[in-house]
Amino acid sequence: MTILAVETSCDDTSIALVKCNQGICHILSNIVSSQIEIHAPYGGVVPNLAARAHLKNIEPCLRQALSEAKNPEIDLIATTIGPGLIPSLLVGANFAKALAYNWQKPIIGINHIEGHIYANWITNSKINFPALCLVVSGGHTQLVLMNGHGEYKLLGQTRDDAAGEAFDKVAKLLNLGYPGGPIISQKAKSGNNKGFNLPRPMINSQDFDFSFSGLKTAVLYQVKKQKGKLSEQYIEDMSASFEQAAIDVLASKTIKAAKEYEVKTVILSGGVAANLELRKQLKESIEKQTQAKFSMPEIKLCTDNAAMIASATYFTKKPKQDHSKIQADANLKLVA
Ligand code: KG4
Ligand code: ZN
Repeated sequence: MTILAVETSCDDTSIALVKCNQGICHILSNIVSSQIEIHAPYGGVVPNLAARAHLKNIEPCLRQALSEAKNPEIDLIATTIGPGLIPSLLVGANFAKALAYNWQKPIIGINHIEGHIYANWITNSKINFPALCLVVSGGHTQLVLMNGHGEYKLLGQTRDDAAGEAFDKVAKLLNLGYPGGPIISQKAKSGNNKGFNLPRPMINSQDFDFSFSGLKTAVLYQVKKQKGKLSEQYIEDMSASFEQAAIDVLASKTIKAAKEYEVKTVILSGGVAANLELRKQLKESIEKQTQAKFSMPEIKLCTDNAAMIASATYFTKKPKQDHSKIQADANLKLVA
C-alpha cells in the first residue's frame, strides 16, 4: 500500500509518500521544508508564524513529493494530530482532510511520538519485541515499553524540561542561537567533557523518570560567573560537559529499564537521536551491558518528517489481512 503522510506539528512542513508491503516500508519521497530562518531571530518557534509558513509551504511540498515519487496511486492519507502546536497541526490536518475528500481516500490521524518511534522501522524492519524506546525530542523525553506494534507502556518521562529543550536552552545561555541541539553537539566535538562538573539529575532514582531543568540551571550559574565573557574554549568545554551529563542520565536509565524488562531491542528516537555522541555511547553501553540489540533511525529520519508518520500508520493501523478494510478516522481530534 502507498501512504501519503502529512506532518506539521511544529516548525517543519513535511509530506512523504511511502510504499509499505510485507512488513517493509520504502520511502518514495520525503520532503521537509524547514522554517529555521523564520524562528531563529526569536530564539524559538513562534506558533502563529509557524502556521503561516506551513500554509505557504505545504502545497509546494505536496507537488514536490508527488513528482519525486512519480505520482503513484495512493491508498491512504495519514496526518499528525498531535502532540504539537495547535496552529501548526491545524494546517496539516485540514490540508490532509481536503486531500482525502478530494481524492476519496481514507484518512488516519497519527500521534507524533509514535511517528518518531516508527522512524526506526524504516531503517530496520527486523526489530524484536519486547522493545524499549528512548524518545528524546524537543517536547518529550520518555521511556516506553513496547510488547508489540502499537502496544505501549509508559515507564517514565521527564518531570520538567525535555532533553531537546535543555539542549536548546543551554545553547541560548551560551549565545549559540537556535536550534541549539545541533550547535551544542558541534561545539562539544572540540571541548573537554570533564571541563565542568555538572550534576546528573535523578541518575540514581529508583524510577524511570528524568529531570533536565536542574542541569540547565547548573549551566546558568556557571555562565553567570563569567560576567558575559565566554571564550570559544569555554563554550566548547561547557557544551561537551553538558552533552555528557545529559547522555549519562539518558543511558543510565535506559540500561536500567532494558535489564529490568529483559527487552530484546532498545530503540532510540526523536530529534535528539541525531546527536552523534548519544548514538555512539548508547549503542556501546547497550551492547556491552545488556542482552538487547540496539536500533536507531538514519540521522535524517530522527527530526520531524512525514515518512515516520507513514511508517507508524502502516505498522499500527493496518489490519493483518486486508488493507482495503483499514478504518478511516471520520473525526480527526487534535492532541495539544
Ligand atoms: O523531534 P524533533 O525534531 O521535534 C520535536 O518533536 O520536538 O526534535 C527537535 C529537538 C530540538 O530540541 C533540537 O535541538 C534537538 O531535537 N536536536 C538535537 C540534535 N539535532 C536536533 N539535540 C542534540 N544534538 C543534535 N544533533
Ligand atoms: Zn518531533
